[in-house]
Amino acid sequence: MLAKKEEILIRAFEPGDTDDIVRLTVAEFEPASIDAKIEAMMGGTPWARVKEKVVRDELAAYPAGCFVAVTGGAVVGYVTTTLNLLASRGTVANLVVSSACQGRGIGRKLLQRALQYFRALNLQQAKIETLATNEVGQHLYPSLGFREVVRQIHYAMSLTGEVEGAAPKRK
Ligand SMILES: CC(C)(COP(=O)(O)OP(=O)(O)OC[C@H]1O[C@@H](n2cnc3c(N)ncnc32)[C@H](O)[C@@H]1OP(=O)(O)O)[C@@H](O)C(=O)NCCC(=O)NCCS
Repeated sequence: MLAKKEEILIRAFEPGDTDDIVRLTVAEFEPASIDAKIEAMMGGTPWARVKEKVVRDELAAYPAGCFVAVTGGAVVGYVTTTLNLLASRGTVANLVVSSACQGRGIGRKLLQRALQYFRALNLQQAKIETLATNEVGQHLYPSLGFREVVRQIHYAMSLTGEVEGAAPKRK
């Protein structure tokens, strides 16, 4: 457990942070993961394996758009971003803070750093997605200026066997 008063440094991602970022993701991201909900519903590849690949690919593709939070010499949070230059929009792809350090303003600081990065690129818009179950996100993002656009429903079905709750086949 980290001391409450330790200073938080937000700095640019370095390739040596990758394994810490993957560890944080696997430890903290499950409640925010649609893949974890699909896995709970119908099995399949463990969500953490899928997410690890996505995060590693993002870090390789957009290293300049990632920032990490460091305290006591440890990476305790990170944000990744992607850019759509045609839309003049930056998207916050992932935001994670270690549960031991949540509620201390680190998520807010990481988002502010991502927004500063978007502004420095002269982008006109910023976007972030969250699940309806994520109460922190629905408080934190509007408090920074994000406005709700639309809600989306994710459906999934198994293609390998009986599907619980599926309508009976017509004869
Ligand atoms: C989302 C996450 C990054 C936030 O990190 P954090 O460092 O705890 O965030 P902050 O401390 O900067 O801000 C949290 C805010 O939510 C508020 N909050 C905490 N619990 C809350 C709840 N149950 N309902 C509403 N608001 C809540 C805090 O009071 C704080 O708001 P304030 O600054 O106005 O007081 C972190 O919770 C996390 O990693 N969650 C798991 C992964 C995840 O959900 N990522 C986001 C996917 S969209």
